[in-house]
Amino acid sequence: MHSVLKTFVHSAMTSSNRVRWVFDCGNWFPSKNDWSKISRSIQPEEKERIGRFVFKRDAKSSIIGQLMIMKYLSQVTHIPWSKIKIKRDQNNKPVIDGFDLNFNVSHDENLVVFAGEQNNTVGIDIMRNRYKGGKSVNEFFRIMHRNFNSKEWQVINKGCTEEQKINAFYRFWCLKESYVKATGTGLTVNLKNICFVPKSDLIKNYFVTNTQLFVDGQLLSDWVFHEYLYDNNYTVTVCLNKPVDPINFKFLTFEELTNSAEMITDVDELYCNSFMAKSDCP
Ligand SMILES: CC(C)(COP(=O)(O)OP(=O)(O)OC[C@H]1O[C@@H](n2cnc3c(N)ncnc32)[C@H](O)[C@@H]1OP(=O)(O)O)[C@@H](O)C(=O)NCCC(=O)NCCS
Repeated sequence: MHSVLKTFVHSAMTSSNRVRWVFDCGNWFPSKNDWSKISRSIQPEEKERIGRFVFKRDAKSSIIGQLMIMKYLSQVTHIPWSKIKIKRDQNNKPVIDGFDLNFNVSHDENLVVFAGEQNNTVGIDIMRNRYKGGKSVNEFFRIMHRNFNSKEWQVINKGCTEEQKINAFYRFWCLKESYVKATGTGLTVNLKNICFVPKSDLIKNYFVTNTQLFVDGQLLSDWVFHEYLYDNNYTVTVCLNKPVDPINFKFLTFEELTNSAEMITDVDELYCNSFMAKSDCP
């Protein structure tokens, strides 16, 4: 497999059970009707969870992730949308019983990304390459330092500018999160023991696939990472437990995402009014 591959983000979707999708929430302003339709087509417990978000932006990202999961599962299992049953495991990872299907969602700022795989464990993480914390970058780095191995920290601090350091930080963070999301533990494990050794720099709109993973000092060569720098704005990493070729991300429209959706719950005026009254973001 090539370690650096050029790709086109807007290419056609593969017909197999391996998919990569993106949705841009930045230009999506759902009407009350849209919100009614989609909130009725997710499972009631997910609808309730999403209803608790204070800001529209968070509710939008989370519901889009749910719709991607529902779309993927109904498409590949041929089970009608309304009969799909997504469960959450003990660490809150959405999973489905009875199929060798693995999927994962990540959101940051405007983008929601999804990876679906058959017979392969998958985790995905996306980060906007822009520091948005309230603290200074130095203070942020001082706190985050404890999650990194000293070799990783050296690479992060090799950058000459603050921007280069932040971009390197996000690269390592996406690698770590994609791995703990694939294994399902999430951030409950000691991230310092999970050490990544990149062999190539990230290049805009190319896949890099040769980064190595060491856990407790041991090389875990079964795990592969498809790292993608989208337009210099976002870093996306897909972590897989078996080596497969990277596949292109396809931008979904709202229509494509919802055209096979079926209603699961009844009309809920109050729920929709509450969403419409929320502010977009802090
Ligand atoms: C998984 C985790 C790393 C996600 O971090 P994040 O960067 O804020 O979020 P991302 O946007 O990348 O991913 C969020 C999505 O990952 C999925 N997810 C949730 N938990 C997950 C897990 N343990 N493993 C993999 N994926 C998970 C969900 O689809 C979630 O979307 P949702 O919040 O809209 O339902 C973090 O929430 C975590 O460590 N969770 C596990 C520990 C925990 O909270 N356990 C609670 C037990 S009830």
